[in-house]
Amino acid sequence: MDPREDIAQILVTKEQIAERITELGAQISHDYEGKDLILVGVLKGASIFLADLVRSITIPVSFDFVAISSYGADSRSSGVVRIIKDLDDSVVSKHVLVVEDIVDTGWTLRLSYLLENLRSRKAASVRVCTLLDKPSRREMGVAIDYNGFVVEDRYVVGYGLDYNGAYRSLPFIGVLKPEVYGGG
Ligand code: IMP
Ligand code: MG
Repeated sequence: MDPREDIAQILVTKEQIAERITELGAQISHDYEGKDLILVGVLKGASIFLADLVRSITIPVSFDFVAISSYGADSRSSGVVRIIKDLDDSVVSKHVLVVEDIVDTGWTLRLSYLLENLRSRKAASVRVCTLLDKPSRREMGVAIDYNGFVVEDRYVVGYGLDYNGAYRSLPFIGVLKPEVYGGG
């Protein structure tokens, strides 16, 4: 079955995403001109965004990925969120731009200590670029340097974002029909 049939509404179209990524790429290319830039995508959600973003950047750029264990009620109380796939190479003296799909509560980035960890490895700078920002849900402060779109407080899928592992391949950002969650 076509996963598009489960979408109730498209919030950000494929064209809007492409246009915004062109703008972000131009801004990043300007800001990091002459600097050794590496994009670090957080798996799996940021993979599609990162793939398009690097192709809109017009200065030399490399990229890698990290994976962070997902949190549940347990990790929140214990404060344990682990980096389960680390970078392949050193980031000493490199300018690191962490690429996320969405910053929601802020718990993932804060509890994983990803930014602190990269800074402690003597990166020249560590900043954050997210496709989506849901500020109404924030519980932990996260400084966002580049943001694609602000979204309202609704669960979104597509363009890398999933619901139970599905819908990442959709080329737009949308919300699911209520019956998809109903299990019926
Ligand atoms: P946070 O820790 O609450 O900031 O959430 C960050 C992670 O939760 C994101 O990288 C996503 O993987 C996931 N997430 C949060 N909100 C959504 C959503 O609306 N749709 C899909 N995934 C989400
Ligand atoms: Mg994620």
